[in-house]
Amino acid sequence: MHIALRTPLTEALGCQVPVIQTAMGWVSTSQLVSASIKEGAFGFLAAAVMTPEECEAEIKTIKDQTDKPFGVNIHAFQQGIDKIIDMCIDYDIAALSYGRGPSPEIVEKVKAAGLKCVPTIGASKHAGKAVKMGADILVCQGQEGGGHTGYTPTWLLLGQVLDQNLGVPVVACGGFKDGRGLAAALAFGAHGIAMGTRFMMSSDSPTPQATKAEYLKAEVTKIPVSTKLDGLPQRMVLNETLQDLEKSSKLGMLLRAFQNGMKYKSQTGMSMTQTVKTAWGMASKTDMTLGQTMMAGNAPMIIQKAMVEGKPDEGVLPSGQIAGLIDSLPSCAEIIQGIVTDSEQCLKRVGA
Ligand SMILES: Cc1cc2nc3c(=O)[nH]c(=O)nc-3n(C[C@H](O)[C@H](O)[C@H](O)COP(=O)(O)O)c2cc1C
Repeated sequence: MHIALRTPLTEALGCQVPVIQTAMGWVSTSQLVSASIKEGAFGFLAAAVMTPEECEAEIKTIKDQTDKPFGVNIHAFQQGIDKIIDMCIDYDIAALSYGRGPSPEIVEKVKAAGLKCVPTIGASKHAGKAVKMGADILVCQGQEGGGHTGYTPTWLLLGQVLDQNLGVPVVACGGFKDGRGLAAALAFGAHGIAMGTRFMMSSDSPTPQATKAEYLKAEVTKIPVSTKLDGLPQRMVLNETLQDLEKSSKLGMLLRAFQNGMKYKSQTGMSMTQTVKTAWGMASKTDMTLGQTMMAGNAPMIIQKAMVEGKPDEGVLPSGQIAGLIDSLPSCAEIIQGIVTDSEQCLKRVGA
């Protein structure tokens, strides 16, 4: 392998290729993580939408299939977070990823146990704070990226963060799918790339075929950012459900959020007290309003329609803009091997 593909990122995470398969709710399951880590990438299990029991079963399944290192993605306010953190330590998980950071105590605890902390940031002002709060690696997701996303384009954000010389590996994220993207990111000064949509659009992801077919049709200019799903900017394929959400009034949105929140509550087995505590915890400890917090309960049910039940028309399809440039569903092995070969060729071409 080209020497440039061995970076501080591969060293820190113990993977062979400087490529991270990111966490995607109901997508980055044991099936996808095993497939990506077997090929030398580093994968994150999307545990933010799992109960502790589900998470443990998924960790065991990955460990039964391969001894390669992998990470777990969490949400600071999910139910059973303490159990999941202890589980990550007990099962010797290599890294923890998150958007909204867990408490300083949790960060200290996992770092003491040897896990690497890998937050995703979407604005340069968050980079220094994240490192102060214990980040070992920074994933910088530009606005092109899928799911919750910021407002700064990937290359601009990357430049802003690299210029701060924060002393931790920096990973470019948002809009990547191939080896030339990796070569460009490395030349730019990043230490690797992170990809969500590309791995979701693979034969190894559990996303239902009917939903994958919709992703294959997506156009780069028709994957907008909307705040109507859960109150936070989220990039999704523009389908009828998203168009309806865009048209709905504030009251209609809150009503729908409440109904869907109640459905999710019964799905996860949360009690009413736990639900209220979680919502209140999120609203009081973050910059989210109570309205946004309520709307956060909206998202899981609508996303699952497409991503789990295979009814893309009735749900929403979180996606990076890169889906508009993807027209096939290769295996993770093909994706990762292609990235290695193509990035090596790019690096050699530039070197020559
Ligand atoms: C279907 C889908 C679901 C996602 N779910 C999560 C999630 O549960 N947690 C998370 O931190 N990020 C989530 N994301 C964001 C991705 O982890 C990743 O940061 C993003 O997809 C990167 O941009 P890209 O799609 O251009 O590669 C999701 C993205 C997609 C496309």
